[in-house]
Amino acid sequence: MVKVLFVCLGNICRSPLAEGVFRHKLAQAHIDDIEAHSAGTSDWHVGEPPDDRAREAASRRGVDLSGQYARQVERADFERFDHVLAMDRQNLSVLERLCPSEHRDKLGLFLDYAPHLEEREVPDPYWGGSDHFDAVLDMIEAAADGLIAHIVEAEKRT
Ligand code: 4NP
Repeated sequence: MVKVLFVCLGNICRSPLAEGVFRHKLAQAHIDDIEAHSAGTSDWHVGEPPDDRAREAASRRGVDLSGQYARQVERADFERFDHVLAMDRQNLSVLERLCPSEHRDKLGLFLDYAPHLEEREVPDPYWGGSDHFDAVLDMIEAAADGLIAHIVEAEKRT
């Protein structure tokens, strides 16, 4: 089992969308040996379901975010997960401070798996409208495809 953790600030917009889209794509591809979860670097929304706008934007693409509740990143995550991927550099730098040195190679930016995109960071849609959520979903879909391809390739080599 390969385990991926998606990380944003509040764990109510970007990383739940990444988790939902990633799981949806895994199910469509009948891949059952990759697992996805999400967390936030802040504790601001712990216990809350994803933002309504995120749930609506996801459901327009057939992606269900129900059953997700925000939690904060904890040190054990760096042991538990194989990839810990931040939505932006600010959250990546928080992860770099928390992460024990032996697990640093698990950290990265999610959009590094969508090298054809201009953006390197998934912008925070919290203060924006539903069009921001759609734009975020486009980036997440591209990076999810790239990440699945990367993990499947790496599995073939082992
Ligand atoms: P997220 O978005 O990091 O994608 O979940 C945010 C959610 C909440 C806040 C900021 C960003 N906030 O300021 O409460």
